[in-house]
Amino acid sequence: MCGMPDLTSLEFCSELPDSKCLWNLFLTTGWNEEYQLTQTVFCTAIEKSWCTIAAYDDKRLVGFGRVVTDGLHAMIYEVIVDPIYQKRGVGTQLVTRLIDRCQMAQIRDIQLFCAPGKEPFYQKLGFVRRPQDAPGMDYRRNNG
Ligand SMILES: CC(C)(COP(=O)(O)OP(=O)(O)OC[C@H]1O[C@@H](n2cnc3c(N)ncnc32)[C@H](O)[C@@H]1OP(=O)(O)O)[C@@H](O)C(=O)NCCC(=O)NCCS
Repeated sequence: MCGMPDLTSLEFCSELPDSKCLWNLFLTTGWNEEYQLTQTVFCTAIEKSWCTIAAYDDKRLVGFGRVVTDGLHAMIYEVIVDPIYQKRGVGTQLVTRLIDRCQMAQIRDIQLFCAPGKEPFYQKLGFVRRPQDAPGMDYRRNNG
């Protein structure tokens, strides 16, 4: 564990994080190379979340996740852990807290888009791949 941050002071908070810190955490994923969002557009969307969870190590934002819902169906979005804090249980704690919040609100189903390679992570948390005869689908505008 040499060089890895000590996680004894890890804290979770349901308040929205500082916009700049959250934006910087989002940029660590590389997703914005495709999304091409501005910080304002990103943070405005985050503010519309039903619930958020942030992980802090001594006031440093090291993880984040959020849920949007209509009270019946819920989607988990933007589960992100700072790369140097990954593989140490932070992501599991974030998603567990989001699931707990949904279950307390008696939300019927919780869905998410699984990033490449993250299926085992979500499977350990109780998520299952949608059946092959009922897959998730994306609308893609036909520009041709
Ligand atoms: C996906 C993501 C949120 C997971 O966060 P994380 O903090 O690394 O998650 P955890 O540490 O709880 O679990 C990750 C793995 O580390 C393992 N792990 C957990 N604690 C560990 C520890 N103390 N020592 C060694 N391994 C550990 C877990 O078993 C898990 O293994 P798995 O990937 O085979 O399931 C993180 O990789 C991330 O932010 N990635 C970039 C953004 C992204 O892809 N988000 C998901 C969008 S769908």
